[in-house]
Amino acid sequence: MQRYDGRVALVTAAGQGIGKAVAERIAAEGGSVLVTDLDGERAAQVAAKIGERALGIQVDVTSRADIDAAVAAAVERFGRLDLLVNNAGGCIVTSDPEQTTVDDWHRQLDVTLISAAQCIQSALPHLRAVRGNVVTISSVNGLAAFGNLEYSAAKAGQQSMTQNFAARHGRDGVRFNIVAPGTIRTPNWDSMPQALDRLKEMYPLGRVGEPEDIAAAVAFLGSDDASWITGQTLPVEGGVLTGPAFLIHQTRP
Ligand SMILES: NC(=O)c1ccc[n+]([C@@H]2O[C@H](COP(=O)([O-])OP(=O)(O)OC[C@H]3O[C@@H](n4cnc5c(N)ncnc54)[C@H](O)[C@@H]3O)[C@@H](O)[C@H]2O)c1
Repeated sequence: MQRYDGRVALVTAAGQGIGKAVAERIAAEGGSVLVTDLDGERAAQVAAKIGERALGIQVDVTSRADIDAAVAAAVERFGRLDLLVNNAGGCIVTSDPEQTTVDDWHRQLDVTLISAAQCIQSALPHLRAVRGNVVTISSVNGLAAFGNLEYSAAKAGQQSMTQNFAARHGRDGVRFNIVAPGTIRTPNWDSMPQALDRLKEMYPLGRVGEPEDIAAAVAFLGSDDASWITGQTLPVEGGVLTGPAFLIHQTRP
């Protein structure tokens, strides 16, 4: 008996990187997965590699129509929805905070925060029916000042959203949690390979994370092993948030 036997997950932005690793992990633990991504080809490839228990479709998380179609597809194909993984929402605005436009703010909030809320709203009736749960992929950027102002603020907003949903729907048996990754080696970093070498020096555990590190945490929070955990943020970050303590150790003679 595996943790996800008979369970169904919907993962957003699962065509590569963290979302792909999450989809693969849930399937490896016996679950069925609706693999969604803005790039429908990528979603289909990930699903094809998983096999029978996966379906890949194109979904833009900034479109409510796409989200509703994805939720409907999961339920139609697999009969139920147990786990929503809000993984979409990477950094799309890197402007100088003093130059940021209202449009920049809207674009970042749309893809990171508003989309996650819309996915939850769409999935909720189905999650309630099976006492399912939601795991949202945030970032250490939402927990401390690492830069990328609009992205970080949007990720911080996910925490308040998660706590509020958790408080509101706990009595329905629906749980809401966050995994907050540190730097993870995904295709997002492909154009900046030296950056990962530099960044790993900030991590007490001496390396950046792999997508599988995040998938393991999501699989835990999404499973019955976490049945009394809701409204929480689990940082999975190689110790980077120890911050000053780590730096003191590094500089000690
Ligand atoms: N990689 C990291 O270092 C890191 C660190 C902390 C948090 N995160 C978070 O993890 C999540 C995944 O990051 P990643 O590095 O695996 O991503 P990635 O850049 O490797 O992949 C992003 C995927 O999102 C898809 N996508 C883009 N816009 C979309 C949209 N509107 N609708 C649906 N899909 C869309 C892309 O097609 C792509 O397949 C993001 O929320 C990101 O903020 C990543």
